[in-house]
Amino acid sequence: MSAWLYYVSECGYSCADLNLGCPSPTVTRRGRGSAMLQDPACLRSFLDRLFSNTLPAALSIKTRIGYESTEEWPVLADLFADYPFAHVTIHVRTTREQYTGAVHPEAFELALQKGIPHPVYNGDLRSLEDVRAFAARFPTAEAVMIGRGLLADPALARRIRGGKEAGKDELRNWYTALYEGWKDRFDRTIALGRIKKLMEWPSEGDIRRKRLLRRADGIESCISAVVGE
Ligand SMILES: Cc1cc2nc3c(=O)[nH]c(=O)nc-3n(C[C@H](O)[C@H](O)[C@H](O)COP(=O)(O)O)c2cc1C
Repeated sequence: MSAWLYYVSECGYSCADLNLGCPSPTVTRRGRGSAMLQDPACLRSFLDRLFSNTLPAALSIKTRIGYESTEEWPVLADLFADYPFAHVTIHVRTTREQYTGAVHPEAFELALQKGIPHPVYNGDLRSLEDVRAFAARFPTAEAVMIGRGLLADPALARRIRGGKEAGKDELRNWYTALYEGWKDRFDRTIALGRIKKLMEWPSEGDIRRKRLLRRADGIESCISAVVGE
């Protein structure tokens, strides 16, 4: 049952993360990723068997707050509170909600109340203001995970620690490097679509910038739209 964890340990890792948050149909169709949230009894028996051994490495999980509905969260939260995870990253959306729409921060509140070990908040922390508002609402929270916010603003982690904003050159280099990486991996159209989606985050509320970005037909015009000349 835990043979794979020995392999993880032999590779030099001290912690493995079980991804119960992935909503991709290619994963959930096979009953993996967030599909495991659909059957809490089965998930409990999986975790019981896993933790019945002395594990060679720590285990953490990343989870959604339900598959179909947020109403599933109290049962799942009780379940996760029963195991000695190194940490539990909670993307405060259901699988059905994918990556968009309003997040459910009250689910994180429940995680704290239920005593889930070392809960890590995840979902839509886009800016320094968002992180500050989160910290004010949840002063006992130990950590957050930031995904797209960091891709959109490469200086976000630095700014959270009191550092300076990204300058124009830093932003230009960052977006260009991301675009080039995606272009090599996928193709130009997909890479441009991805970079535009990402750049929409800091452009939200700025209609002029959004319009310029929508019209942009290359990485240079995308960068000009968002960063300026
Ligand atoms: C395009 C895309 C790909 C992602 N791929 C993964 C992945 O491979 N593994 C994972 O655990 N999460 C993945 N995520 C989810 C992020 O880790 C994160 O949970 C989600 O984006 C919410 O956080 P954010 O609002 O800070 O971006 C992905 C998200 C996006 C938008």
